[in-house]
Amino acid sequence: MDLTSRIGNVVLPNPILTAAGTSGYSTELSEYIDLSRLGAVVVKSLRIEDWPGNPAPRLAPVGQGLLNSVGLEGPSLKTWIDQHLPRLRETGARVVLSVWGRTVAEFAQAGQLLAEPPDGLLALEVNVSCPNVEDRSSMFAHSAKATAEVVSAMRACSLPLWVKLSPNVPNLVDIALAAVEAGADALVLINTVLGMKIDIENRRPVLGGKGGGLSGPPIHPVAVRSVYDCYRALSEVPIIGVGGVMHGRDAIELMMAGAAAVQVGTANFLDPRATVKVLDEIEEWCATHGVDRVAELIGAAHSSDDQDDLHDVAADVP
Ligand SMILES: Cc1cc2nc3c(=O)[nH]c(=O)nc-3n(C[C@H](O)[C@H](O)[C@H](O)COP(=O)(O)O)c2cc1C
Repeated sequence: MDLTSRIGNVVLPNPILTAAGTSGYSTELSEYIDLSRLGAVVVKSLRIEDWPGNPAPRLAPVGQGLLNSVGLEGPSLKTWIDQHLPRLRETGARVVLSVWGRTVAEFAQAGQLLAEPPDGLLALEVNVSCPNVEDRSSMFAHSAKATAEVVSAMRACSLPLWVKLSPNVPNLVDIALAAVEAGADALVLINTVLGMKIDIENRRPVLGGKGGGLSGPPIHPVAVRSVYDCYRALSEVPIIGVGGVMHGRDAIELMMAGAAAVQVGTANFLDPRATVKVLDEIEEWCATHGVDRVAELIGAAHSSDDQDDLHDVAADVP
């Protein structure tokens, strides 16, 4: 079985990665799994300086999903490079760093710091799904212009840039296009869906940060649709699908929508072995369905017939 996954110039032994923020910064999952078995480990998003994150409580289960308002707590990029990256490399993991910023200038500083990246980094995930403090009304990822500015600012970094977008927009394809035109080498789709839970006895939002991001199985169809639409519009751009992957079949669905690789997030909180289980299930599914190369599945759900052109209009009718 050929499980090789290609994301532009980055070649991975298989298409399963961790999703940023769901497996820590370092070797946290190595107690449970051999990190070198994964396609790659994507670490929690880090900023040029350390950041305290949001007040507790930060997590709330909601139905089959999870609402979080961790608020991107973490050490500075420099501390992570000096203290955490070496430990992670010792496990044999292939490492993808994720970066966030509060302003375009902060992203640019991170890009400069990574102009000559430390050994052992495969790619840089640029998390634009974070608040833009110069325009408090939104996240960078809610605007094609702001997304493009961030990606351009990161171009000092010599690693492949994977840009992680937010699904909370009506024009995801336009934003994806702006990211690609600004220099994104791949798209990561999707970050969490905005949500909130209210404690009706206290009449207050449950999370310390009030609002949060919804993840897990409820957002899987949103991820599938996001990947499908972006693949259809930009089929030459590699896509990494993420959202509600609990089983191998969920990952296969994202690949058939157009993803070249898939990240597993919330599932790690339920079972820290989820990534390798998903990988084993993909391999099993391929074996029972006569698929020799997992890459055959990429975009398999797209047809070239004219009916497909009606997709947008038809799907938007309630
Ligand atoms: C607790 C938690 C923390 C997260 N932290 C980050 C983060 O630091 N950076 C980021 O880009 N995404 C972060 N995410 C979003 C995930 O990487 C992923 O995009 C999202 O949860 C959807 O995937 P899932 O349904 O498999 O969890 C976080 C998600 C959760 C649940």
